Amino acid sequence: MRAYDIIQAKRDGKELNREQIQYLVLGYTAGKIPDYQMAAFCMAVYFRGMSLQETTYLTEAMAESGEQLDLLKFGSKTVDKHSTGGVGDKTTLIVAPIVASLGGIVAKMSGRALGYTGGTVDKLESISGYRTQMSKEDFLAQVGRIGIAVVGQNGNLVPADKKIYALRDVTATVESIPLIASSIMSKKLAAGSHHIVLDVKVGSGAFMKTLAEAQKLADLMIQIGKACGRKVSAVLTNMDVPLGNAIGNNIEVQEAVAVLKGESCPDLREISIILSTEMLCLCHGWTPKKSRQEVEKVLKTGVALEKFKQWIDAQGGKTDWIDCPEMVEKSKIVYEVNADKEGWLTAMNAQKIGQTAVVLGAGRERKEDSIDFTAGVFLKKKIGEYIKKGETIALLYTSREKLAEEAKEIFLDSLEWGNQQPKENPLLLDVMRMEE
Ligand code: URA
Repeated sequence: MRAYDIIQAKRDGKELNREQIQYLVLGYTAGKIPDYQMAAFCMAVYFRGMSLQETTYLTEAMAESGEQLDLLKFGSKTVDKHSTGGVGDKTTLIVAPIVASLGGIVAKMSGRALGYTGGTVDKLESISGYRTQMSKEDFLAQVGRIGIAVVGQNGNLVPADKKIYALRDVTATVESIPLIASSIMSKKLAAGSHHIVLDVKVGSGAFMKTLAEAQKLADLMIQIGKACGRKVSAVLTNMDVPLGNAIGNNIEVQEAVAVLKGESCPDLREISIILSTEMLCLCHGWTPKKSRQEVEKVLKTGVALEKFKQWIDAQGGKTDWIDCPEMVEKSKIVYEVNADKEGWLTAMNAQKIGQTAVVLGAGRERKEDSIDFTAGVFLKKKIGEYIKKGETIALLYTSREKLAEEAKEIFLDSLEWGNQQPKENPLLLDVMRMEE
């Protein structure tokens, strides 16, 4: 077999078989196939697409390229959640303890911030002492003990995706539905959970800019899951505006805790309830109505908050700040962004607000950059509100005094103003479940 012939076949729109796809993926991961051939293959896929069968072969070959976690000893209650990436998306911090407090087994590997979107691992590392790296034995033991553990992705999990994703990033081939689907699903398969809920974000702050594109991606991932013996549902949610009011690291953790305490943050609370509901429908076979009732109950009674404390403590994190938010470290500098005009806020571009947070120090511009856990943006106003001149729209937290002006400009550029109240955009755009 030759890589050249496989690239040529894809270029000409032919369907590839399992052996050809495995040859390419495993050869590339082992360094036997060079970047330029893999790049040509990705571009051929970008233009020609892939059938469901080919995408499934690609996903399986990638999942099998490294270590795979075996969660079978936990029975049929293992359940994972994956977000395609958004701004202010801290739902894992809320959903994982809710589901674990209701008997779901959450053995989760999360990612770091990517571009203007945040990452759960960075948020968790903003909690003093929290360990995002554990041995496999300790990770599985904790899951067995308390039903929940969340760590960073193990270095040897899906090495093929690490290499291929980095290549796609520099060859303009990220935006290909079969390549995105196989990248996400290979990581979910290797992470071992039997049930998977996908939160596919749609809008200005997401990869998928339209609902139709997001439905296509979600449907493909559900079909791949089915072909690989997993149960998958997808929830399609709005990412035109950031989720919640906090965008950063320790401020997002505090906002997640506020939701677990029952304090107000309606959009974040609602999306977290929807995701938890779907996860419990899958792993317990409950109806959506019963699931939602149970989720609301553990939020109201504080049971989910207790599970959160137990989880953070088990991974070495301090927990005293949870009941004493004033103990949380604050940024050195706080800037107010005040309105220089009056009117309705009609749009808040999530991508630009994510970029504002990165400039303030909350994300990475380069892989090797370190993060300022106290940096970020706190939205005092959101889309649909009427704002008077001089009112504070947002607080910018940073220690980078010199960059605050630049960040403020990007933030102001994210806003659109109008004379009329905009119509409300739904938070939940679609739920797609697997047919039995
Ligand atoms: N997230 C991933 O993990 N992979 C992609 O290709 C896109 C988003």
